[in-house]
Amino acid sequence: MAKLLTPVTLGGVTLKNRVVMPPMCMYDVAKEDGLPTAFHHAHYGARAIGGVGLIIQEATAVDPVGRLTSHDLGIWNDEQAQALTGLVAEVHALGAKMGIQLGHGGRKAADEAQPVAPSAVPYDEQGTFATPHELSLDEIKATVQSFADAAKRADQAGYDVIQLHAAHGYLINQFLEPTTNLRTDSYGGSLAKRFEFLKEIVIAIQAVTSLPIWVRLSVTAYADHQNSIADYQQIAQWCGTPRCKSH
Ligand SMILES: Cc1cc2nc3c(=O)[nH]c(=O)nc-3n(C[C@H](O)[C@H](O)[C@H](O)COP(=O)(O)O)c2cc1C
Repeated sequence: MAKLLTPVTLGGVTLKNRVVMPPMCMYDVAKEDGLPTAFHHAHYGARAIGGVGLIIQEATAVDPVGRLTSHDLGIWNDEQAQALTGLVAEVHALGAKMGIQLGHGGRKAADEAQPVAPSAVPYDEQGTFATPHELSLDEIKATVQSFADAAKRADQAGYDVIQLHAAHGYLINQFLEPTTNLRTDSYGGSLAKRFEFLKEIVIAIQAVTSLPIWVRLSVTAYADHQNSIADYQQIAQWCGTPRCKSH
């Protein structure tokens, strides 16, 4: 507790204190265009005024088909990046650092008529979520590129940290978990193969920005969760390997 309000340096980024606001989707993009609104400026600005050291912006879609809902923020185009530049500048001016959580909902893209996933396994059997289309190899490459393009835009917009949403049953998590990844190609099977999608994303992002990359994992029970804590320790170690390559 004594250290809570003292500075800390993480991945080369110095925070004025150790209070970090986690990403929380606000579902407040009424126009469904992924652009921040007056609400987002007030919401994040208020936390910066409140003294938070690091704000991690809510899950922000790298691809429109990956929005958790159609009211999510997005960073899949330059207009969005330009608008987010203003938001980041405000937060910085108010004394906080700002990260962005890059996300793709995969089969949990609730408003998508045709979501995508590693395998055609629906999120629920009740039909609330559509059965996803199984990503082809070319589509996987394109999705990896979407993450890298989003990270590059985030860097240009002034964010201090990139966080990858690899938790909570969303697309990256769907690749990691054997219940949702039934693939028999190089992206499915062993833990190392299920890690391949995340690994390629990390490597692709490292190629376009030197910003620190944080990876958010769900380590204990989540829906359809089978990986053990030891599996996630292994994944975390692989993520931390220089350039994510030597496993
Ligand atoms: C409204 C709401 C939206 C959330 N959205 C996200 C999100 O976009 N990304 C994410 O990783 N976690 C999200 N979470 C989870 C939070 O980041 C956080 O882990 C959770 O509220 C538990 O907080 P705690 O870790 O301080 O106990 C959300 C939580 C809430 C309540």
